[in-house]
Amino acid sequence: MEIFENFLFALLGGFALVALVHAQNQSGFISIDCGAENTTYTDTKTGIKYISDTTFVDAGISKSVALAYQLESLHQPLWNLRSFPEGKRNCYNVKLAKDVRYLIRASFAHGDYDGKGTVPEFDLHLGPNKWESVILGNVSTIIVKEIIHVISSNSTRVCLVNTGAGTPFISALEFRPLPNNTYITQSGSLNTFIRMDVLSITNQVVRYRDDVYDRSWAPYAYPQWQQITTPRTIDEDRYNDYQLPSIVMRSAATPKNKSEPLLINLVHEDSTSKFYMYMHFAELEELQANQSRQFNISFNGNHLYGPVVPSYRHTTTAYTTSALTGEKLQFSIHKTENSTLPPILNAIEFYLVQDFSQSETEQADVDAIMNIKSLYKRKDWQGDPCAPQAFLWNGLGCSYNDNDPPRITSLNLSSRGLTGGIPPYLSNLTMIEHLDLSNNSLTGPVPEFLSKLQYLRVLNLTGNMLTGPLPAGLVERSKNGSLSLSVDLCSSYPCKENNKKKNNFVFPVIASFASLLVVTLAISAIYWRHKRLRKGKKNNDSSLIDGSLETKKRRFTYAEITKITNDFETILGEGSFGKVYHGYLDDNTEVAVKMLSPSSRQGYEQFEAEVILLLTVHHKNLTTLYGYCNEGNQIGLIYEYMANGSLEEYLSDSNADVLSWEGRLRIATEAAQGLEYLHLGCKPPRVHRDIKPANILLNDQFQARLADFGLSKTFPIEGVSHLSTGVAGTFGYLDPEYCQTFRLTEKSDVYSFGVVLLEIITSRPAIANTEEHKHISQWVDFMLAQGDIKNIVDPKLHGDIDVNSAWKAVEIAMGCVSHSSTPRPNMNRVVMELKECLAMETARKEGHRFGSGDQSGRMMTLNLTSELAPLAR
Ligand SMILES: *[C@@H]1O[C@H](CO)[C@@H](O)[C@H](O)[C@H]1NC(C)=O
Ligand SMILES: *[C@@H]1O[C@H](CO)[C@@H](O)[C@H](O)[C@H]1NC(C)=O
Ligand SMILES: *[C@@H]1O[C@H](CO)[C@@H](O)[C@H](O)[C@H]1NC(C)=O
Ligand SMILES: *[C@@H]1O[C@H](CO)[C@@H](O)[C@H](O)[C@H]1NC(C)=O
Ligand SMILES: *[C@@H]1O[C@H](CO)[C@@H](O)[C@H](O)[C@H]1NC(C)=O
Ligand SMILES: *[C@@H]1O[C@H](CO)[C@@H](O)[C@H](O)[C@H]1NC(C)=O
Ligand SMILES: *[C@@H]1O[C@H](CO)[C@@H](O)[C@H](O)[C@H]1NC(C)=O
Ligand SMILES: *[C@@H]1O[C@H](CO)[C@@H](O)[C@H](O)[C@H]1NC(C)=O
Ligand SMILES: *[C@@H]1O[C@H](CO)[C@@H](O)[C@H](O)[C@H]1NC(C)=O
Ligand SMILES: *[C@@H]1O[C@H](CO)[C@@H](O)[C@H](O)[C@H]1NC(C)=O
Repeated sequence: MEIFENFLFALLGGFALVALVHAQNQSGFISIDCGAENTTYTDTKTGIKYISDTTFVDAGISKSVALAYQLESLHQPLWNLRSFPEGKRNCYNVKLAKDVRYLIRASFAHGDYDGKGTVPEFDLHLGPNKWESVILGNVSTIIVKEIIHVISSNSTRVCLVNTGAGTPFISALEFRPLPNNTYITQSGSLNTFIRMDVLSITNQVVRYRDDVYDRSWAPYAYPQWQQITTPRTIDEDRYNDYQLPSIVMRSAATPKNKSEPLLINLVHEDSTSKFYMYMHFAELEELQANQSRQFNISFNGNHLYGPVVPSYRHTTTAYTTSALTGEKLQFSIHKTENSTLPPILNAIEFYLVQDFSQSETEQADVDAIMNIKSLYKRKDWQGDPCAPQAFLWNGLGCSYNDNDPPRITSLNLSSRGLTGGIPPYLSNLTMIEHLDLSNNSLTGPVPEFLSKLQYLRVLNLTGNMLTGPLPAGLVERSKNGSLSLSVDLCSSYPCKENNKKKNNFVFPVIASFASLLVVTLAISAIYWRHKRLRKGKKNNDSSLIDGSLETKKRRFTYAEITKITNDFETILGEGSFGKVYHGYLDDNTEVAVKMLSPSSRQGYEQFEAEVILLLTVHHKNLTTLYGYCNEGNQIGLIYEYMANGSLEEYLSDSNADVLSWEGRLRIATEAAQGLEYLHLGCKPPRVHRDIKPANILLNDQFQARLADFGLSKTFPIEGVSHLSTGVAGTFGYLDPEYCQTFRLTEKSDVYSFGVVLLEIITSRPAIANTEEHKHISQWVDFMLAQGDIKNIVDPKLHGDIDVNSAWKAVEIAMGCVSHSSTPRPNMNRVVMELKECLAMETARKEGHRFGSGDQSGRMMTLNLTSELAPLAR
């Protein structure tokens, strides 16, 4: 009677009162509406609170099912979905309670969201293991996958895997904690096979709030059965652990022929499948003294358990405690000889055992690498880092030992444009053997913890801007041969001319005493240099640098400058600071070389540190500084060459090329973005101090880039009024408040930018030669009072502008040139508003295009409407 042992009776009647762990509220529920725009909402049908998926996933795009499928019958959480056109595996990362058993449900409703009428097939993974294949019949199919699974760590990953048969997507993802003494298996998780509300009262799916665990119960009827019901509540005052919904238990099936048993047959193709079964009984009738209901349960003809005497209005659950197998599973519930009444069955559940054999990567390694993932925003890193091996993260290496969780043993982040310090999270990758951080822009010291990583055999830190000294432990380990260490601590500061090679320290496996001596000497030399220059060093966390820049040389000798400029052959411009020459670097990059005249180089001790910093500030609307020369009294700066010169040239009357209104708005927006970056993207923020059309340069694509940023603090400026008070800037662009208070803030740049914007709009100079309305802002103020925008805008445009965008641009500019700094907007705001102006003008031009009767234009408008329609619901 082995089978008998598989059965256990849960007769909890009046005794074992289970604490109502999650009674009647959603505590512990995680309900994610994938692709939803709203952060939270309550589904009116279930009362469940859903949240948007944006904090759980960093890939994919939000979509909505087509209008035709947004029916009343489709649950709101299924209206939106997230599709993953990119990447082989994309994952939701969800923080959960450790060691808790969860009911996990993933729902998929395609609803022809992409308008193609076809459905994809893809795989659903839980952590590193395949959970199921998702195969939709057609665009109107709704697929729900459910599993009961114990989360062994405090987070889990649900992944969608592209198997080459279409774009994976998901509509909803739900997690429900279950009490730890329910749905226990000997091994494996429970994949829901079927869960039935036998002879249902409602004939509808029952879930939360009726079911406190939000299981979904489907109605089930069978012709040979008949229904008995009670209007009274089941489990009113006490609960069985399984907490069956009263509405499900209030109805039961009984055989129409009272002497027949209730038979349940289950057929499954795979005869090796293992099942767990749960039957729920409650007596619904008040029995008389001469009545009794008793029945036995058998499985494939063998007695399994009995007799069962269901108790009145209380749930009794019978379940298997180990798995059943077989191709056909036949359960029979038949009354005992003594029983006057036929058997009953109120509800039944079947689960397929799913063994997840692949273990997840060690939690500590996962925690550490997830921190690194979010630090460097690696979207290509999805799911478990090591497992399964086929999905190993790019740049990672892991060890896989039989039943132990995989461990991270190598990490290659070479040439990834990393900035900031060496991340401390690396200290928790305790099994790491091989670490490559070479060719990045990492700054700061080489941390002590690296020497504590006991398995580390190879460490490559070359090509960064790290500073010494090296931790003694690392030197010790490279000396005794247990570690191969490569590091150059030189590139963060200018090296002596052409001795970069000599200062490039590489520590292969060093064993001899003699080499150790050399190493130690070299380190002290760097340390000394570091101390000397520290004052000028600035924090440049926010700077972005691409690998290619790193490979370019930064410091040039005077001889090299001569070569670059072909002996100062072509002069591009000249100012009070000196001359600008045209030139080419070795790799043929076109550059502009600014040589400072000896008279303008006084008191600039911080020159080098400042320049080093600027070399790392990188933004598409700032001109790039490639390098510099500081030899004797020769100071030169090598900039990216800007083929179309400065904005000033394009605004002057003498220039035959008239910039279009759209072009002007674009340049203004781009310049504003550059300034926004200096103010808000740089740490510490930088004030340009000399915003004017001459410092807004245009490349061959007419993209605007700010020039001379940041150097203004230490460098004399063209056309400077060097007041003894220290006020610097160009007349006409100078913030009046700064002139009074000498307090320099970003708002001073905003003022100057406002003046530039007015010039862009009007093509008038900042300071006019006429007596009246000398300053451009006074003139515009005067013209505004007249109320005609067309007289403010450059007459050369012949009114070919979007009037609203012109009004708006003037409004922004006038806000910027407010006399006091407080009402001036910040650059972030300015950028936003300018983008709107640009959009208005672009829309006007598009309108022209559509207006020409172009059919495709009309089609596009229609599509837009249908895409926007979901917003209205
Ligand atoms: C939800 O139920 C749990 C357990 O009964 C309780 O601890 C928690 O306070 C409840 N939360 C709310 C918001 O009622
Ligand atoms: C978002 O929430 C607001 C307020 O609850 C509601 O009016 C709007 O219809 C919702 N939008 C969507 C797409 O669910
Ligand atoms: C989609 O498939 C279901 C069965 O899975 C079928 O009942 C339905 O008619 C199909 N709908 C369409 C539009 O083909
Ligand atoms: C996971 O749990 C462990 C121990 O309970 C804790 O130390 C760790 O911080 C947790 N990790 C996260 C990501 O919450
Ligand atoms: C369930 O959890 C409780 C407390 O968290 C613990 O004492 C008990 O041993 C657990 N039971 C099972 C079957 O894991
Ligand atoms: C009821 O079932 C018994 C046993 O199978 C059978 O002998 C009897 O004929 C059935 N009665 C009816 C009315 O079908
Ligand atoms: C049971 O007892 C009731 C009276 O209490 C009687 O009417 C009924 O016929 C009895 N039923 C049987 C099966 O003996
Ligand atoms: C039938 O019921 C009587 C009295 O309740 C009891 O003594 C007897 O053991 C029962 N027989 C069976 C087979 O359960
Ligand atoms: C390393 O892991 C421990 C334990 O989980 C944690 O407390 C610590 O904060 C982690 N260190 C870093 C730098 O992340
Ligand atoms: C260190 O990295 C650099 C750049 O990626 C590479 O050229 C060099 O060979 C590496 N050194 C070692 C010892 O692996």
